[in-house]
Amino acid sequence: MASTSFFCCAKGFNWREKGKKQPPWRIFSLKELHSATNNFNYDNKLGEGGFGSVYWGQLWDGSQIAVKRLKVWSNKAEMEFAIEVEILARVRHKNLLSLRGYCAEGQERLIVYDYMPNLSLLSHLHGHHSTESLLNWERRMNIAIGSAEGTVYLHHATPHIIHRDIKASNVLLDSDFQARVADFGFAKFIPDGATHVTTRVKGTLGYLAPEYAMLGKASESCDVYSFGILLLELVSGKKPVEKLSTTVKRTITEWALPLARDGKFDEIADSTLNRDFVEEELKRVVLIGLVCAQSQPEKRPTMLEVVELLKGISKEKLVAIENDDMFKSMPNCNGSSGEDDSSDHISSEKELKKEIEKVQADQ
Ligand SMILES: Nc1ncnc2c1ncn2[C@@H]1O[C@H](COP(=O)(O)OP(=O)(O)OP(=O)(O)O)[C@@H](O)[C@H]1O
Ligand SMILES: [Mg+2]
Repeated sequence: MASTSFFCCAKGFNWREKGKKQPPWRIFSLKELHSATNNFNYDNKLGEGGFGSVYWGQLWDGSQIAVKRLKVWSNKAEMEFAIEVEILARVRHKNLLSLRGYCAEGQERLIVYDYMPNLSLLSHLHGHHSTESLLNWERRMNIAIGSAEGTVYLHHATPHIIHRDIKASNVLLDSDFQARVADFGFAKFIPDGATHVTTRVKGTLGYLAPEYAMLGKASESCDVYSFGILLLELVSGKKPVEKLSTTVKRTITEWALPLARDGKFDEIADSTLNRDFVEEELKRVVLIGLVCAQSQPEKRPTMLEVVELLKGISKEKLVAIENDDMFKSMPNCNGSSGEDDSSDHISSEKELKKEIEKVQADQ
């Protein structure tokens, strides 16, 4: 069933109509991918996610690829594979990871991408590369703007595409540290005219908009929320949810908002930057991150507005954000996580998990 939709999608996109002789991707044979990845050798493994493992490989022409191999075949996984291939085949943008091709033989499902030599943003912020401090301020600003532009492209595609899993491991970095947003397997098309679609909750804890986590309402503004968390993570080097003790967890917004209210932006900056950042830009990114990651979706900006704000084009809008009530200092706030905010954020992962399970059980 699902495979029917997959093959339909591959055939359904008419490249001749678009004035192209052939699609920019092709079908790979399993044999070719075995040989490119040294039989999916452990040493070639780049990482592992929900879908399966990702391997580095090299084709006969010398070009480098990343191959994502489905772990366990199931109807659900097949559906995700089909969605990812369908969406990737449609989208082309400098800040989106494009498809090189796919392989579907027997129960093997593999997706082939361009290899991104600087891996994911996650690996630089919290993983293998974090000690190397390769992300200077200029690179961080470019990554913020590039990933926002890639997301704008998805939101303005026809039909609109919401990503639903924007996070640091899904922002890959090319040889120039330009951002490429990856993993559209969770993406959802929004029919024209619809404001949101109700769906089973997918995505990653810490990045989920509350209305999506609790009510399953997916819309572009859910991506805006996740993007806000990503911005705060990018400038601070902190994880979206921090474990303070075995029972207490604090979200990045609970930590950053009181500091922003007190104007202590330099305390939010990643210490590995060694204070080498543009103060005005840092303040801008923090304010935008927090305004994106607020609980009320109608108050969040659109991704297009986010791009303009990040680029410093919308000076008046930024002043309006700065003067918003959410950034007014609270009496008795003490710079801690501010009780008044607790309703704005789902502060415990457990709480969020419970809410998600409740929503899934209801559907
Ligand atoms: N095209 C690529 N080039 C280089 N590295 C890649 C590429 N695609 C994926 N990776 C690496 O493989 C890792 C695993 O990716 P994968 O998308 O499977 O999992 P994830 O992003 O951690 O989680 P999720 O399954 O929720 O997306 C990534 O963190 C990244 O470092
Ligand atoms: Mg991923």
